[in-house]
Amino acid sequence: TVSTGTMGRQVLLFIWVLSLSVVHGQVSYSIPEEMSKGALIGNIAQDLGLGVERLKSGKARIYTGNSEEYIELKRDRGVLLIKDRIDRESICGQTMPCALHFQMILENPMEFYTVTVEIKDINDNPPTFERGEMKYEISESALAGARFVLDKAIDDDVDVNGLKSYALKPSDNFVLKTMSRGDGTKHVEMVLQKPLDRENHEHISLILTALDGGEPQLSGTMQIIITVLDANDNPPVCSKSEYKASVTESAPAGTVITTVRATDIDKGNNGKVTYTISKSGAASLFQIDANNGLLTLTGNVDYEKRRLYELDVQVSDQGGLSDACRVIVDVTDINDNPPSIKIMSNSNTVSENMKPGTVVTMLNIQDPDSNDNGKVMCVLNENIPFTIKSTTNNFFTVVTDSELDRERASEYNITVTCSDEGVPSLSSSVTLTLQISDVNDNAPVFERSSYKAYIVENNTPGLSIFTVKARDADWNQNARVSYILEDSSVNGVPVSSYVSVSADSGVIHAVRSFDYEQIKDFQFRVKAQDGGSPPLSSNVTVKIMIQDQNDNPPQVLYPVQTGGSLVAEMVPRSADVGYLVTKVVAVDVDSGQNAWLSYKLQKATDRALFEVALQNGEIRTI
Ligand SMILES: *[C@@H]1O[C@H](CO)[C@@H](O)[C@H](O)[C@H]1NC(C)=O
Ligand SMILES: *[C@@H]1O[C@H](CO)[C@@H](O)[C@H](O)[C@H]1NC(C)=O
Repeated sequence: TVSTGTMGRQVLLFIWVLSLSVVHGQVSYSIPEEMSKGALIGNIAQDLGLGVERLKSGKARIYTGNSEEYIELKRDRGVLLIKDRIDRESICGQTMPCALHFQMILENPMEFYTVTVEIKDINDNPPTFERGEMKYEISESALAGARFVLDKAIDDDVDVNGLKSYALKPSDNFVLKTMSRGDGTKHVEMVLQKPLDRENHEHISLILTALDGGEPQLSGTMQIIITVLDANDNPPVCSKSEYKASVTESAPAGTVITTVRATDIDKGNNGKVTYTISKSGAASLFQIDANNGLLTLTGNVDYEKRRLYELDVQVSDQGGLSDACRVIVDVTDINDNPPSIKIMSNSNTVSENMKPGTVVTMLNIQDPDSNDNGKVMCVLNENIPFTIKSTTNNFFTVVTDSELDRERASEYNITVTCSDEGVPSLSSSVTLTLQISDVNDNAPVFERSSYKAYIVENNTPGLSIFTVKARDADWNQNARVSYILEDSSVNGVPVSSYVSVSADSGVIHAVRSFDYEQIKDFQFRVKAQDGGSPPLSSNVTVKIMIQDQNDNPPQVLYPVQTGGSLVAEMVPRSADVGYLVTKVVAVDVDSGQNAWLSYKLQKATDRALFEVALQNGEIRTI
């Protein structure tokens, strides 16, 4: 046999002798299928060496038996033509070679020829798949090497035009494997080469292409749709390994602190995350919602007790995979503590002579809050001679800042008020009572700068004349005043023989009876002295004025009287009226009015002759 070109024809001629004498020969043609109607198959007259005339005379015709007539004989031209469409596949299927066999019969004489028309395949059928798509559900846990049988493609063409190969695209996960079966068909399967990852591609679409070997090449495709089934191949993953959150210490139970988020890219229960806090000391203060990771407060946090909590949160999926993360909860301070004032050391009493700057009290101030909430300032009440000073951390001292004077203020209530700098500020205060103890720093002071007193002469000895008084501003013994008569002399006589002073009362007594005519006044000093140690004193001058009493009658100095005899004066007869007879001179040792003298005639012989001047004692004639 000789194969023909695409449309070329070769005539194969066999002449053989069959048992039937009428068989003269056989002729074969080879044509491609699907030639158009009327196309020339071959010049049978010529090929069999018969003239056209012989065909006509022999009434040549072709006999196909019961089979369909695809070919007709043009007797007048001696050629075979295509009568009906020849589809190799419908005539022969996969059988090869494919040929139409018929006889050409002639009469006169009867002859018949066997004609074989070989139908050559042309590539007019692409490979086809019965189904447009195949669906698989494959677990992502399927191991490399897993095999999946694919539908075969059918190509009705044969030989080189038949199915030649398969291709699978894309080839990320699967490779194609084909095996020739004993029946000549090709078994095709895909083999998992690289495991699937649902989290990457849940649905994978592959195209299986079947190719034939024709020219031009034809192909058919089928879609392979793979649904990747989840396997718990991913643990849950916290969005952060460490969460930072803060909560104020006054926050009520139920306050949301933060949300822990973990994701698990698996599906369904494999991807369902639950949250738990690992049991630790602080766990009772916090609670996490197992489903959504919401971390809330369940108890009370106190900044002053604990400032930081570290919680370990475990996140797990339902398939036993887990992750862990930490939540760091900072407790933030609020100003919930007033400063506490502790008296470290305190004098209840301080002497009034302490120098300014003397420490009276030492205080320790504590405020457990932090920052400004714990910064403390202390002040004292106003108008007291004290100030408060901050020493080293949290210690304060109350010191005197000016001279103290018990005589002005013997007791102070010192109120220390300490406030923190929180907003609002909290404060507390304490009041200390401080007694100022006395020092003998005041001398007694007389009520007057000097005293003057009067006493009427002829007094009884021991008479109290008057009282001097001195006051001492100090206290108790320091203020107990004694009065002392200072030594001095009056007219050469110690003053103590004139007066005495009562030490306790300051009463001045006359020691003797005074005689104005002998002494009219005198002075001395009285000292007032307190009971302090050493004692302080002051003195005062006391002047005593003795007052006159009319204790002396006038005495006549002239005319001098001797015994009981009369004094005679001579008056001349010629004496005129107003003649100065004599002058009576008298004196009175008393003073003042007590010494004023007046004269009167006591007994006159003739009243009409003499008179005495009331004032000066002159006796004249009238
Ligand atoms: C100090 O306080 C006490 C008690 O309140 C009070 O009796 C006293 O008079 C106060 N003293 C002064 C000097 O204010
Ligand atoms: C009496 O007091 C004065 C001052 O007032 C003083 O100078 C004098 O020394 C004092 N005399 C005596 C004896 O203390």
